[in-house]
Amino acid sequence: MENTAPQLFKITFDGIEIEVPPGTTIMQAARTLGPHYAPPAMCYYEPLKGTGGKCRACLVKVAAGSAKDPRPMPKLVPSCITTVQDGMVVENTTNESVLETRRGIVEFLLINHPLDCPVCDQAGECHLQDFAFEHGRVTTRYEEERRTFDRHDIGPYVQLHMNRCILCYRCVYTADQITDKRVHGVLNRGDHAEISTYIEKAIDNDFSGNVIDVCPVGALTDKTFRFKNRVWFSKPVDAHCDCEKCSGNVTLWYRGDEVIRVTARKNEWGEVKEFICNTCRFERKKTSDWTIEGPTKISRHSVIMANKYRADLKKPEFGLKVAAAQYKQIDDSRPYVTDGSTIRELSKENNVKANQRSLAENN
Ligand code: SF4
Ligand code: FES
Repeated sequence: MENTAPQLFKITFDGIEIEVPPGTTIMQAARTLGPHYAPPAMCYYEPLKGTGGKCRACLVKVAAGSAKDPRPMPKLVPSCITTVQDGMVVENTTNESVLETRRGIVEFLLINHPLDCPVCDQAGECHLQDFAFEHGRVTTRYEEERRTFDRHDIGPYVQLHMNRCILCYRCVYTADQITDKRVHGVLNRGDHAEISTYIEKAIDNDFSGNVIDVCPVGALTDKTFRFKNRVWFSKPVDAHCDCEKCSGNVTLWYRGDEVIRVTARKNEWGEVKEFICNTCRFERKKTSDWTIEGPTKISRHSVIMANKYRADLKKPEFGLKVAAAQYKQIDDSRPYVTDGSTIRELSKENNVKANQRSLAENN
């Protein structure tokens, strides 16, 4: 009887053999091994067709092109858009030039980034933070002025903070593929490229809020949630409702008893599983609107996953290097005090001094 089983390609990824169907990309093949093996991705987004090839975060070395032609590929290739060949040998973390290039890519992505994580709503679930933590340098060599933009409200619910945008195009593909009238896109090219709504038109359709979930950084934020809480102080819970427009499967983010944010559910790669409508996202903010399923399983992309930044996990010397490079030596001769009431008195004194200083500076 004829063998109808599909032919599989055998590839070696960081020394591990995998069999995948023809047409699979290197990234998809690597993802079958799990999050610790897959290359980082800042623009590739599996649920959206055509994404990838923009950020270069996922570059890998192809040490042998195929069984038929085992020559190495001359340059590093983006794993998210390069399909596997039978007998291909790929090096990811096992190749120093890949790691060195990734350090450069992080530095490049951060060139114009405002580094305002302390006030950014995305902090704690930002893919750029993760990428910089896992692959970045401790310092930057960039000395030029960063490009800056005014903030724009695009529609009643979404704010664009272009300074943080890394031009991954995910929001453009989202608007193209899941809404019926896209009115925003990337205008201009090179250093002048920016996400913009044509002639300042608002994104106004039932699924526009999904651009917030796909944005890997804090460039597109939820205006109903802005500055309400830090992600690590909130409690995510899976819930669903009977919705006419979408699946109604969401994650509710609680602060105490209050629902402060509603998002789509995400998979282990931080990608939306099912896009949700604006009514679910922005208008159903009461527990009584939902049927609660239970606590959300936290992905590695969230800072609230226990021990994400555990000292022995990666780069144990990271914190020390930052401290050595960026902070001046502490020269403090004040006595070491542990008594509570003395500390309170000293704090009051310090507050008074700080107020006097700021009054003097403003006059
Ligand atoms: S706004 Fe966000 S999703 Fe859109 S291109 Fe910029 S970084 Fe990507
Ligand atoms: S994830 Fe492959 S180029 Fe951006």
